[in-house]
Amino acid sequence: MILKRPSEIDAMAEAAVINREALESMEKAIAPGITTLELNAIAEEAIVSRGGRPAFKGYKRSGTPPFPGTLCTSVNDVIVHGVPDKRPLEKGDILSVDIGTFYKGYAADMAKTYAIGEISEQATKLLSVTDRSLYAGIAQCQVGNRLGDISAAIQAVIEAEDFWVVREFVGHGIGVSFHEKPDLPNYGDAGRGAKLRPGLVLAIEPMVTEAECEIRILADGWTAPTSDGSLAAHYEHTVAITNDGPRILTAANQEPRKNLDPTVLHQELGYRKVAQ
Ligand code: MF3
Ligand code: CO
Repeated sequence: MILKRPSEIDAMAEAAVINREALESMEKAIAPGITTLELNAIAEEAIVSRGGRPAFKGYKRSGTPPFPGTLCTSVNDVIVHGVPDKRPLEKGDILSVDIGTFYKGYAADMAKTYAIGEISEQATKLLSVTDRSLYAGIAQCQVGNRLGDISAAIQAVIEAEDFWVVREFVGHGIGVSFHEKPDLPNYGDAGRGAKLRPGLVLAIEPMVTEAECEIRILADGWTAPTSDGSLAAHYEHTVAITNDGPRILTAANQEPRKNLDPTVLHQELGYRKVAQ
């Protein structure tokens, strides 16, 4: 795994600010009737006008066309990598938005799931549990812990509520490259895996579905819905491990925090309803 110097983490923090601000600009426009292509354009303009570069646009994966969007917009049963399109959002939809930015050579990665107007009780719970699982994972990002401590903490929150941890996609190291070692599954055993060291930066990104299911990939080569129509949620932060505790680069408060209460943290950047 690649460890970053403090100055590099500061540079990643700058990329993360642009990334978060772009997500927030986009977020204000979320409402029934808007299309994900329109949201994509808002986010792209916000990144580019701040001197950043959309990290997903043109992203290549072997055997598929390059990813066309600045955002991944994953509606309802789509888990991740939804391609922005012309379908207007409807009341009752849930929308996962994933956004990545390069700035001065460093990357930041973040995702959040939004409710469009009123959503079912079950969908509301899916969003809040996924979000909480992310913060439970972040709370484990202490020097001396192991990767498996993060994975196990995420999995425990999700399974305690009888939801399903997606196995096919995982979190990852991030830095000069968008995807670096190590992989970070959202399931696993506490006490296993590599030790967390200061300077490791991780994109932690639980993906959760209502029920156990498999994934499909649509003909566009990217969009990944559940095999059975189960709803899916996705939350993500870019987190630096420091001697003073996890520093959530993509959060509004980037201060490292040593004794982290995941519940308090969750309230700070928890999901909220938009667009009644
Ligand atoms: N957060 C996702 C990931 O880390 C987003 C990647 S979208 C892609 O895989 F288009 F860049 F692939
Ligand atoms: Co990611």
